[in-house]
Amino acid sequence: MAEERMLITGGQRLEGTVRVSGGKNTAVAIIAASILSETPCTIENLPNIEDVAVSVEMLRYLGAKVDWCPDEGVMQVDSRTINRTDVSLDLSRRMRASSYYIGALLARFGRAQVPLPGGCDIGRRPIDQHIKGMRALGANIDTSRGMVFAQADGLVGSEVFMDMVTVGGTINVMLAASRAQGTTTIYNAAKEPHIVDVANFLNSMGCRVKGAGTDVIRVRGVQQLISRRPYAVIPDQIETGTLMIAAAATHGDVTICGCIPTHMEALTAKLLEMGARVDERDDAIRVRSIGAHRAITFKTQVYPGFPTDLQQPMSALLCTATGTSTVVENIFESRFRHLAEMERMGARVRIFEQTAVIEGVPQLHGAAVEATDLRAGAALVIAGLMAQGTTEIYNTHFIDRGYEHLETKLNSLGAKITRIND
Ligand code: EPU
Repeated sequence: MAEERMLITGGQRLEGTVRVSGGKNTAVAIIAASILSETPCTIENLPNIEDVAVSVEMLRYLGAKVDWCPDEGVMQVDSRTINRTDVSLDLSRRMRASSYYIGALLARFGRAQVPLPGGCDIGRRPIDQHIKGMRALGANIDTSRGMVFAQADGLVGSEVFMDMVTVGGTINVMLAASRAQGTTTIYNAAKEPHIVDVANFLNSMGCRVKGAGTDVIRVRGVQQLISRRPYAVIPDQIETGTLMIAAAATHGDVTICGCIPTHMEALTAKLLEMGARVDERDDAIRVRSIGAHRAITFKTQVYPGFPTDLQQPMSALLCTATGTSTVVENIFESRFRHLAEMERMGARVRIFEQTAVIEGVPQLHGAAVEATDLRAGAALVIAGLMAQGTTEIYNTHFIDRGYEHLETKLNSLGAKITRIND
């Protein structure tokens, strides 16, 4: 099979303006939620990424009519033709968000048969909290042979206390609760921006979700959800952050427009601490950087803490900071694999369980490296932009899962990135 790889000629300063795409993690949830609507539903500002393409395949597999225009980011979903409630193993392996079809199918059709989800290999990713929440609403759920079999003769609102803060678990229980009889209260809910976006989408179809963005969410179920107007997903917080880090990494001057600066506070604070300059406007952020960066310490946390999805790109930037940085990964067990690849580029790193100690070096040098997951791929791109010489990144399909035209956007700012397929 032909192996596609990315070639980056490092050392180019990034300069100019770039527009951020719609959010991946909100898009995959809202597309799954679209099957709750009794009427055709239009979703806008969707990113043209592999996870959205897999979501389209998923809806078509179920029998929905889908009109997807990737260049415009607009999707129309007509769920009235859905004629099955099982998800194929192949599709679920390709996307973590396949678990959302449990909550959505259960709420709409009273049953779902979904393989345990796949997605990036960044550590153990159980869905016990999703299942616990749906059981609390009255669903019968059996997990055996790698499958989730869910069935309910009418879900009933209930109290759900999450044992840990989970983005996916919170969204899945919201989806299941949207058509349950009565009110569901989710305690210890996740507060990420895409939770608020999913709540807004459900509310736009007549559901009553209150408290999204806090740790107690109340969902008052309705008998029918009816889409009345197009819904545009929010901009991608992680793409915004990746571009901010790329600007700092190349000592550039980049304005990222179409973003939501308040979603970026944790990263902005750390970039300022490192010595970069960050200016925020209503829907744009300008990142400038001159001279060496200072080493820092940070820990990944649930929102509004430092996002785990930006840990990998940020730790790439730290590889050339002056001094020794410490990074603690609190959310996923196995999210430092990119650092082993960066050692090939001259990075100096020691890993102790969930902590990485990064001793800054004056310069990385290009090497052949392998992306092991989506954000690891983004981290290697950042490293490649900083390095002297050419970096060759294998497994670029991981990057395409979640970034829309990443190299086109970076090249428009002055990067030199090409793809080779041989
Ligand atoms: N967890 C459980 N049980 C559960 C659910 C989660 O133990 O039932 C644990 C997980 O193992 C993990 C922690 O709780 O240690 C947090 O997991 P969470 O459920 O919040 O993550 P997720 O929903 O699987 C989403 C994003 C991830 C992002 C995390 C954290 C999507 C499709 N994925 O995953 O995005 O890292 O939230 O913010 O929304 C990415 O975009 O690269 C990515 C991996």
